[in-house]
Amino acid sequence: MKNDLMREFAPITNDLDDILLSPDDIYKRVVEIGKEISRDYLGRNPIFIGVLKGVLFFMADLLRQISIPVEMDFIAVSNYSPETRDLGYVRMVKDLDIPIGDRHVLFVEDVIDTGMTLNYILQNLIMRQPASLEVCVLFNKPAHRIMNVPIKYKGFDLPDQFVVGYGLDHRERYRNLPFVGLLKASVFRGK
Ligand code: IMP
Ligand code: MG
Repeated sequence: MKNDLMREFAPITNDLDDILLSPDDIYKRVVEIGKEISRDYLGRNPIFIGVLKGVLFFMADLLRQISIPVEMDFIAVSNYSPETRDLGYVRMVKDLDIPIGDRHVLFVEDVIDTGMTLNYILQNLIMRQPASLEVCVLFNKPAHRIMNVPIKYKGFDLPDQFVVGYGLDHRERYRNLPFVGLLKASVFRGK
């Protein structure tokens, strides 16, 4: 299976050491989370909010597993550099289109590492006084957590390694891979 994917997606996979999660692993988990959320939010007309661009794939797949009325919206932020883990400040560069006051908000995130980005965004959203605010993250990397962030729905815990695919990038590449792979150290360091 892994070898087939490695072959099928060559030459991109030449930059990978391994495949950690197959498309099927991800799909099955997304289906489970979708069912849970649909049950929990029945009758609450939630709005799913994501940060561009990494969450696009997860958001699209998750929403298609939601069996209740739902809306979606996106924000965009400028991020710190993942190479240096330089904890520069987070800045919002695209705001929401839909007002969220008194609405049930589910914040959907692809990956949480230090938690700095999520912490900033949650504080920002909370000021708008939603009726409720919960977090759904597909990939959780607990090793470098600095901020204690509340997670209601979680896909997978990942090891302290730089991964790409299913929305996750390195210098904007690899987002399109339908699986999650481990980036070779030589590529990560830009050699
Ligand atoms: P943090 O939780 O504020 O540290 O930052 C999360 C952001 O760092 C994510 O939105 C990603 O853009 C990036 N990031 C952290 N770990 C990874 C990874 O393993 N692969 C790709 N991007 C990552
Ligand atoms: Mg990124």
